Formats: sequence, structure tokens, C-alpha cells
Amino acid sequence: MAGLVMSPVEALDALGTVQGRQDPYPFYEAIRAHGQAVPTKPGRFVVVGHDACDRALREPALRVQDARSYDVVFPSWRSHSSVRGFTSSMLYSNPPDHGRLRQVVSFAFTPPKVRRMHGVIEDMTDRLLDRMARLGSGGSPVDLIAEFAARLPVAVISEMIGFPAKDQVWFRDMASRVAVATDGFTDPGALTGADAAMDEMSAYFDDLLDRRRRTPADDLVTLLAEAHDGSPGRLDHDELMGTMMVLLTAGFETTSFLIGHGAMIALEQRAHAARLRAEPDFADGYVEEILRFEPPVHVTSRWAAEDLDLLGLSVPAGSKLVLILAAANRDPGRYPEPGRFDPDRYAPRPGGPEATRPLSFGAGGHFCLGAPLARLEARIALPRLLRRFPDLAVSEPPVYRDRWVVRGLETFPVTLGS
Ligand code: HEM
Repeated sequence: MAGLVMSPVEALDALGTVQGRQDPYPFYEAIRAHGQAVPTKPGRFVVVGHDACDRALREPALRVQDARSYDVVFPSWRSHSSVRGFTSSMLYSNPPDHGRLRQVVSFAFTPPKVRRMHGVIEDMTDRLLDRMARLGSGGSPVDLIAEFAARLPVAVISEMIGFPAKDQVWFRDMASRVAVATDGFTDPGALTGADAAMDEMSAYFDDLLDRRRRTPADDLVTLLAEAHDGSPGRLDHDELMGTMMVLLTAGFETTSFLIGHGAMIALEQRAHAARLRAEPDFADGYVEEILRFEPPVHVTSRWAAEDLDLLGLSVPAGSKLVLILAAANRDPGRYPEPGRFDPDRYAPRPGGPEATRPLSFGAGGHFCLGAPLARLEARIALPRLLRRFPDLAVSEPPVYRDRWVVRGLETFPVTLGS
């Protein structure tokens, strides 16, 4: 099929429509036809090529949006507790604050630390599958997203942070409401619900921190309470709230979408489901390919703190760059036949796994802190789901959520079989 012919500005506009959000890929290709990184208007660029995105993510002169940049684009942001919460986190901070904020929790998410969660994640997965079996007995359809894919990440991160199990469903609801604040700020009215949820969560976090100060436990809340009270490098109150918020929200929907996409493609292409059931190592390449092919985070952005050159393109100070990670993941210069789903792309080869890893977790200083955890959850969850329910089948077509930046399935009704 011939590709869409349109200007980069028309393609970007289309990505803001329902059609664009339902299937953004043709519009990414329309932009790519103009180059790896292209200007859209003065001081605005969109980046779709793998090398250009990778370079931009690692370029020190390109900064994430932070309090300083929000002062320009959204001067009243401080009156919104939800935006204040995120803006005080590592995800929205640049050096030197970024390193200080990331360091407090980073050691808890290293691959060896995360590997210790293996048994806990297996148990949590099996408990959720038992619950699904009850819900789906007698052939009743079960929503795979609400009852499985969305529950596992909440359970895992809550365990690591130290949130009581009884509050997890409430957290998930609050976290989705607060996450609206990360979707861009064109409509401050849309932030009312996010602010209310942030205020409710802040009160809860404060209370929990007080309890851990009195009775320390082996969890991240205790660690954060110490980082708040101790010095040097202490976190102030907003930074503490921001850290908790970002740990909670960054992994909920994203990992749920990874598992949801993984299940959807396995049910569409049954040979993969069979291999996930039978081959213990197949899940590694399968999860990597899901990340490349249907990444939960499609886009991020950076702004230029000074003039710079990006692979031959002059980017003046003050420019804003939209980095489309999902388009970079389908760059034919990096991935032959990028539209073909192929979990065997990641078989050992010269250059090691880094030679083929997609950009779904970003790159450089802000590389996703939760990447080892998200990968482990999906590598455990998908084979266990398919083994437990060999006759798992689609009951109704899955429905995508109507969002672009963090994109995934809203619902996916399935039947479990006899
Ligand atoms: C499949 C699941 C996930 C995806 C696709 C994902 C994606 C990303 C991406 C693309 C970034 C970089 C954003 C940028 O550079 O602008 C990021 C950062 C981050 N992610 Fe994830 N993430 C996932 C799961 C998780 C989990 C489970 C956690 C839980 C701890 C987490 C915590 C974070 C944090 C704290 C950052 C900010 C790091 C920094 O700014 O230094 N993520 N994630």
C-alpha cells in the first residue's frame, strides 16, 4: 500500500486526532519520508529516526521539561498540585537535581536487585491467574487488562515501595487520575481531577511516611523517609511526593500495556503462543519485540539549552524536539522489515543485545529506571498466563485507549476455555 503523502506538520496534526491515536504508524512514516529529524516550524522539530532519537536522548544540551521550561509554557503550573508533584520528580529534572533525585532510589532497581523479585512475581502472577480462573469459570468473558495486566504491576511496585495490599486498587485508580497531568497542559481545566487525586495521595503518603519513621520496614517508603529527614542530598517534601508519584505511575500503565500487547499478539499469532508455552527462553526475545513493535510510551520531548548540531541539523537554543520513540523503533535503517513482528531478531549476534535493543525505555541519563522490572514482569506473566489457560481465546476485539503518548489497550475481553 502506498504511504501517506503529507507535510510533517499535517502528519503531527493528524496524530492529535482520533484516527491518529488509533493507528499512528502511517503518520510516522509520512514524517519519515521527510527525514530522520525535521523542522515543523521555527524552533520546533520532530524526530523519527532511530539514530537521531538515540543521539537526542543522550545529548547533554537537550533537557527534559522542568520547572524552568514550564514557567514559559504554562506559567500557572504551580497552582496545580498534580503538575507540581511530577515536576519535582527525576523525570522532570535536569542536572544537578536529576542525579540527586535518581540516586536515592536507583540502587533498588538494578538488575540483580530486581532478579530477587523473581519468586515474588511468580507467586503474584499465579494468584491473579487463580482469580481469573474463578471469574472466567463457565465460559464467562474476563477483561484481561483489568483483571490481570493492570493488576500485576500495581501489586509488584506496591510490594517494593511498601504499600499495603488492601490499598492497591485505590492506588491504581488514583495513579491513572494523576497521570493526566503528564499528557500536556493545553487544558488546565482537565487537571481538576488530577489535582484532587494528587492531594488525596499526598495525605496518604504523609501518613505512611510517619508510620515508617516510627516503625521502619525493609521497603522504599522507609528509605524515602530517611532521605527526606537526613542530609546532605536530602529530598524536600515536594521531591519526596514526586518520587513516590513517579515510581507509582511510571510503571503501572506502561507495564500493563506491555503485558496486554504481549497477550494480544500471542492470541493473534498462535505460533508465538505455542513457543511461549514450550520454550523457556523464548519470552526474552518475545518481550523485546513487543517493546519494539507496540511500545507503551510512544513519545517524549526535549528542549535545547544551547545551540547544537543533531546529525547535521542545526538546532537553535530554546527549540523543542518531539522524539517519537515508537517511530524510531520501526526505522528500516535499524530494523530490516520493521513492520514484521519477529521475536528472533534478538538472537545472540555480534554487538550483543545493545545492537538491537529498541528505544522503548529511552536512553541516556533518563533511561527508564524500571526497565529491568518491567521486562521481568512480562517475561514471567506471559508464559504463565498461556500455560495456565491453553484454550485462552479472544472474546471481543481489544480496544485501544484514546491516548497517544502512553498508548495501550483499555479492554481486552477473553475466554479462558474449559
Ligand atoms: C514497559 C514498561 C515501561 C516503559 C515502556 C517505560 C518507559 C520509560 C521511558 C521511555 C522513560 C524515559 C522518558 C524520557 O527519557 O523522557 C522512562 C523513565 C522512567 N521510568 Fe519507565 N517505563 C516502564 C516501566 C517502568 C517501571 C515498572 C518503573 C518503576 C519503577 C518505571 C520508572 C521510571 C522512572 C522513575 C523513570 C524516570 C527516570 C529518570 O528520569 O531518570 N518505569 N520510562
